[in-house]
Amino acid sequence: MDPVRFNIVGGERKVMNHYLAHKKIGFVGCGNMAQTIARGWVDSQILRPDQISATNRSPGKLKKFADDTGINAFDSTEQMLEDCDVIVLAMKPQDLLTALEDFQHAFTDNQIVISLAAGISLHTIKKAINAPVRLVRIMPNTPASIKEGVIGYCIADNNNELKTAIEDLFSPLGLVIEADEGEAFEALTVSAASGVGFVFELMIYWREWLEEHGFDEETATLMTVKTFLGASKLADQSSNLSLEDLLARVTSKKGVTAAGLASMRELELERGLRYSFEKAVLRDRELSQ
Ligand SMILES: NC(=O)c1ccc[n+]([C@@H]2O[C@H](COP(=O)([O-])OP(=O)(O)OC[C@H]3O[C@@H](n4cnc5c(N)ncnc54)[C@H](OP(=O)(O)O)[C@@H]3O)[C@@H](O)[C@H]2O)c1
Repeated sequence: MDPVRFNIVGGERKVMNHYLAHKKIGFVGCGNMAQTIARGWVDSQILRPDQISATNRSPGKLKKFADDTGINAFDSTEQMLEDCDVIVLAMKPQDLLTALEDFQHAFTDNQIVISLAAGISLHTIKKAINAPVRLVRIMPNTPASIKEGVIGYCIADNNNELKTAIEDLFSPLGLVIEADEGEAFEALTVSAASGVGFVFELMIYWREWLEEHGFDEETATLMTVKTFLGASKLADQSSNLSLEDLLARVTSKKGVTAAGLASMRELELERGLRYSFEKAVLRDRELSQ
């Protein structure tokens, strides 16, 4: 199979893009991910707070968010939809389609609609919206909150202006990767969004082993986090070295690391991880039914 080419955008773009300078963006749902994204836009000065609006099912959360950030709080999603050029659907996947039934008539032609909902296809959302909007699916991960995210997106049509708008919006939050909906987007969801959870699970094993060998929890946590952070930063800053080169540099023949690695391979750790990734993909497919 020929390798698929992906559109990758990274690094910070602090200059306000002329396309975004006058746009208004509304979040339907202001939970964890919406707040992460909105704060990322304001902090990186890609949007001003007055360009951002939100609605939320429970009003208390919305009021607090608006008070903290200076964004506009709307009581009515219909009214917000009329006021905004870009709409971000930021509810949980299980709430999305029912919620759309209430306000699907309020979308306008050519509005950009961004769905964050894991597992719900472009086709399904397009069917649920009563207007020819420009639809995008985004898959962010939680490190986007510290601008170290991996943010995947897929769009229904090959529209370069739309791609630029999405890349300008999301590159301040991390690495932005366009992937075709289907296998590539599923893999991105599992490796980047669920992947953060898998890495935390590994870090817990690491910490527990250190605790069993005499370190207190706080020190063991710090050592674990710094080991993962150090390895990641080293890989990030060694653009001339592959991961295999970096591995070779810590592995001397018949040494300590080599013994541990040999055992990892004997235990088929890779097979275990691949199996877990595939199970997560299956669950992503199940949710999309
Ligand atoms: N968190 C992640 O790591 C992550 C990663 C990738 C993608 N995502 C996606 O991001 C989306 C949001 O996830 P989240 O973690 O931010 O969830 P969340 O914290 O539960 O936020 C969802 C928000 O939507 C609100 N809501 C529900 N129905 C609504 C409606 N009809 N109108 C207005 N607001 C409504 C909820 O209001 P209440 O205050 O009443 O509950 C809640 O504040 C999901 O689709 C998820 O798949 C999340």
